[in-house]
Amino acid sequence: MINRAAELIRESSNPVIFSGAGMSRESGMRTFRGEEGLWKEYSPEQLSSIAGLRENPGLVWDWYRMRLIAGENVVPHPGYHALTYLQEQKGYLPVITQNVDGLHRLAGQTDVMEIHGSMRTASCMDKCGFSAQLTAELFHTGPPVCPDCGAILRPDIVLFGEPLPPKVISRSYELAESCDLMVVIGTSVQVWPAAGIPFAALESGAAIIEINPVQTELPRGDRVISIREKAGEILPVLTGFKERT
Ligand code: OAD
Repeated sequence: MINRAAELIRESSNPVIFSGAGMSRESGMRTFRGEEGLWKEYSPEQLSSIAGLRENPGLVWDWYRMRLIAGENVVPHPGYHALTYLQEQKGYLPVITQNVDGLHRLAGQTDVMEIHGSMRTASCMDKCGFSAQLTAELFHTGPPVCPDCGAILRPDIVLFGEPLPPKVISRSYELAESCDLMVVIGTSVQVWPAAGIPFAALESGAAIIEINPVQTELPRGDRVISIREKAGEILPVLTGFKERT
């Protein structure tokens, strides 16, 4: 199975990566679902929705501050570096990610579609046009306020109840429909419309390699290889990446 997947990656002329929270697990970020998932402890409606932010900005920003502080020590693991190595080998490797942690870019991947946005920047909730890099200092004493108009700032991630960025999502579907291989890493494939992306690749004739320690909603079949391993351990093996010392 692993040899076959490595061969598929080697032979692919047009691969695309699709990643979720499990891709960053070995970098120290928590996933959303499952036993250790964030949504076991916190309510997505309260903490990750536009209504929750308007109702209780202090609570929401405390939560983002906690995630950002946790994320400040987070660096890409060898699986991320293996993807950058693959990008070098192929010359081009588009990445579609549901993650907001920015680790694909930090690892050196250059064409990254962050379909759920990024928690590295914030902008004015009243859309006056203000936008800034998000640092923990910006909101150390409560919700950060727009210096231009006084409204509350919001993290630039897609909150529940909001549409996905239309250009990013349409490009992601285009890539899915034209790739010959999609490597699906660390996602439960449960949150739509993002979850439709690997299905679109499959329906358009692409092969799928799934990397996830547990079984997901992805169908099984001739063109789907499921590798039940951790991303940080198996991606270097599949791509032939050796850590530079
Ligand atoms: P989930 O938390 O739903 O799923 C994470 C997946 O990663 C699970 O299937 C785990 O088995 C798997 N996993 C855990 N450790 C892993 C490892 N070391 N290597 C590989 N896989 C591993 O996260 P997502 O599918 O990304 O949305 O969730 C999708 C969306 O739900 C998120 O983007 C977020 C959330 O609500 C928004 O914030 C809009």
